[in-house]
This record gives sequence, structure tokens and C-alpha cells, in this order.
Amino acid sequence: MKRIGVLTSGGDSPGMNACVRAVVRAGINAGFEVYGIRRGYEGLLDGDFMEMDLSSVADIIHRGGTMLGTARSTRFMTDEGFARAMTMLETYQIEGLVVIGGDGSLHGGQKLSDAGIKVMGLPGTIDNDLAYTDFTIGFDTAVNTALATISNIRDTSSAHGRTTVIEVMGRECGDIALYAGLAGGAETILIPEKEIDINAICRKLLEGKHRGKLHSVIIKAEGVPITAGDLARELEAKTGIETKKVVLGYIQRGGSPTARDRLLASRTAYHAVQLLAMGSDSKCIGIRGDEIIAVSFEEAFNTEKTTHFEYLDICDILC
Ligand code: F6P
Repeated sequence: MKRIGVLTSGGDSPGMNACVRAVVRAGINAGFEVYGIRRGYEGLLDGDFMEMDLSSVADIIHRGGTMLGTARSTRFMTDEGFARAMTMLETYQIEGLVVIGGDGSLHGGQKLSDAGIKVMGLPGTIDNDLAYTDFTIGFDTAVNTALATISNIRDTSSAHGRTTVIEVMGRECGDIALYAGLAGGAETILIPEKEIDINAICRKLLEGKHRGKLHSVIIKAEGVPITAGDLARELEAKTGIETKKVVLGYIQRGGSPTARDRLLASRTAYHAVQLLAMGSDSKCIGIRGDEIIAVSFEEAFNTEKTTHFEYLDICDILC
């Protein structure tokens, strides 16, 4: 194998640039020609490729976003789009591909792998919803960004004696809420993995108020089936405590990656390139404990996600 490609796909996550940098530099070091593919699978089927050199990835390790651009490609999901992507890989004689993205992007990688391309999947998403790896690249930064905002909101909530419902991202996974909520001293954490009990939240708010609590912060994951606005209105109506809502949104996806995310990005990407150089089958790379692991796509998608429900109990006791 002489040529490999790298692309970032789906929602961007802090640390994607650190991955691209590591793939390019480790790839060149291993004797590959490395092509960057712009805008994820969209660029793949459009043949939007550029040859990378050592300096093309200079000064990006600390930047959020992705220098390659990203997209959610619906065209790639069609038979015609997929065939075009295969034609482009053949035209450029790219036999190995590093795909950096979340669940949908790695499923796309599996499809290419089934068609004969050696694909290494790197878990690039803030959601932490890929079960085969303890952590995804970008999750730690998103948690820390959410945490900084929660701290600001605590200040103003106490000043006014209010309750604030803060909605964080994560799709159907509650990990951003769980980690940022516990670290941020939230009174209640709501995740899609556990049914919501509005009366229990109200009792807690009222008990807190009567023992002199100045504010309450509720962290709600976006996958919980009630909007932050509706929840805030319902809590205010039931408890009589003024309740505001804040939806953090895209600020969680931007910003300079934390040391943890840069390390995870650099280590997993380096490992991916080593596997390609060794002629390995397609794999998804991740981390378990402090060990970098590589599993088949099948194993990656069949692993059951661990949710740290105990964080909810700890939160209950500590708030
Ligand atoms: O998967 C990352 C993520 O930020 C989710 O947390 C969120 O639900 C989604 O992407 C938003 O997607 P889009 O950028 O397409 O609006």
C-alpha cells in the first residue's frame, strides 16, 4: 500500500485537527503518500482530494473544528454516491482510509471496508456514544466547555434565587450531561437513559429552597424527551420558583481541545497508521482504561454502551 487518505465526517469535534496532523505526519514517516479529503464523504465522492505534506498540518493541533471541513453526506448513503466514492478511491489509488467521525461516519467506513478498502475508524464526536471506546475524541473538551458555562450560570442563578435548566448536547447519549453535571455540582441530572420523574425534581427543588439553598441547576441532555423550555415552565408552575432555561448548543462543539483530547487524538491516529503500515484488516481504534485498542467494525457496533448511573446517585447525595 502506497497511498492513504484521511477525512473528517459528521459533526466536528475538538481534536479532529490533532488527528489529521497525526495521520499525516505518522503516515509520511511510515512511507505513505497521504491525501486529505475535504468535506467528509461529500468530498470523497466529488474527488475533492489534496496531497498533504509535513507542513500542511503545522499549527493546527490546538485548533477546534477541522481543517479538512466536514459534512453529513446523504449522497454517500445512496448506491450511486457510494459507487462514485469507490471510483474516486480507485482513480487516486487510495487503498487505506482513516475516517474520523461518530457513529454514522464509522458505519460509512464499514461499508467501504466491506467493499475492500482498508479503513481505520477514529472516534471523533463530542457525544461519547460509541460503546467500544471509553472515550471519544472531543468529549472531554465539550464537558469542560459545558462546565465553564454551568459555573457562570450558577453565579447568576444564586444572585436571583432561581432554578436554571441547562440543556447540553449528546444526541441519545447522556454522558455530557452526566459528567458536566456531576463536575458542576448540579442538583439534578437528566439523561435519556433514565426516565424523567418531574414530581421528584419538584420535591427536591422545594426541599432545597426550604433549607436555604440559593439556586438550583438542572442539567438536561438533549435526548431527554421534553424541551428545556417546557421543563422550565412546568417546574416553575409546580414549585412557584422562578425557572429559566439555557440551551448551550454549538458552543460545546468549538474551542481548543483539552490535553486529554489531544493525547487521545494523537495516540489513536498514530495507532491507526501503524496498523495500515502493518497491513492489518480494517479496525476501529479507541481507548479502554489507558490502553489504545483496535477492534473490528462488527465488534465496535455490537458492544453495549456502559452508562455510569452511579454518577446520578453521587450527584443526589452531594448536592
Ligand atoms: O453528534 C454531535 C452533535 O453535536 C450532537 O450532539 C447534536 O445532536 C448534533 O451533532 C447536531 O448536529 P448538527 O450539527 O447537524 O446540527
